[in-house]
Amino acid sequence: MEGLPRATRSRNVLIGPDTWDDAGVYRISPRLALVQTVDFITPVVNDPYDYGRIAAANSLSDVYAMGGKPVTALSIVGFPEGGDITILREMMRGGGIALREAGVALLGGHSVRDREIKFGFAVTGEVHPKRVIANSGAKRGDLLVLTKPLGIGILATALKRRLLPDATLRTATRQMAETNRAAAEAMRAASVSAATDITGFGLLGHALNIARASKKTIRIWSRVVPLLPGVLEFAAQGVVPGGLGANRSYLEPETRYDEGVPEPLRAALVDPQTSGGLLIAVGPKRVDGLMRRLTRSGVRGEVVGEVLARGPRLIEVTA
Ligand code: CO
Ligand code: CO
Repeated sequence: MEGLPRATRSRNVLIGPDTWDDAGVYRISPRLALVQTVDFITPVVNDPYDYGRIAAANSLSDVYAMGGKPVTALSIVGFPEGGDITILREMMRGGGIALREAGVALLGGHSVRDREIKFGFAVTGEVHPKRVIANSGAKRGDLLVLTKPLGIGILATALKRRLLPDATLRTATRQMAETNRAAAEAMRAASVSAATDITGFGLLGHALNIARASKKTIRIWSRVVPLLPGVLEFAAQGVVPGGLGANRSYLEPETRYDEGVPEPLRAALVDPQTSGGLLIAVGPKRVDGLMRRLTRSGVRGEVVGEVLARGPRLIEVTA
């Protein structure tokens, strides 16, 4: 967002571009604020229907990460001239079904000719202005809960290189197509401090956004971070996406790793995710309640770290 002209400041802009948050929030009445976001992705799997579902889940995620409830969506499509129209139709069908399951109304959209396929949605949600879950609310002593295992970027790279077993592809596809709706409902009911979703900057990159906005240090307990099957093996063979190295260099100055954190695990912690889980900061007295609610709604949450007073580095990774 840097370099964009500053929009007119309004006291109704509750969340703007300066806090590295997942979506913007605009108050339209004392009881109602809009949560707005846009996201689109290139294909991560070969099946167009699955890709459509994943694109939708991915686009809804930023609204869930703010504590909002998505309400409407507009599609954004890039599709090659003369491309197979059944692919387009399947993409749209997958996206439409995922939105319908989430209770979101598709109002329209826009498509352009593009050499590479792209698909996603601009999503509008609603939230009570006092119940926005921003990046800036993490408190010292909070615990961090992650709601989906990591490694999607590494597995997608393995898929492109034809190294991915079918069973793992199915697991990864299912995970990406799963929206963060249930996790978000559990989070809203549990009164948490801060939250974001894990996408292109990986676990550590998105944790850094919370650390910065909250002016705290975040410690990740690397050994307990859940990973998808095969991720460490592929990472050890150098099967990693291009964005991973960029994430690592970007995070380097802010991160301190214990010596015992093995190299492939370091890679997994900065692996770019598509439609990743929520990372939730929650007070120690509330964490059990949150975990119970997550389990009840079929979400496997894991406590992966803690929030500390601000130290010399914003991210610490323990072995
Ligand atoms: Co996000
Ligand atoms: Co986003």
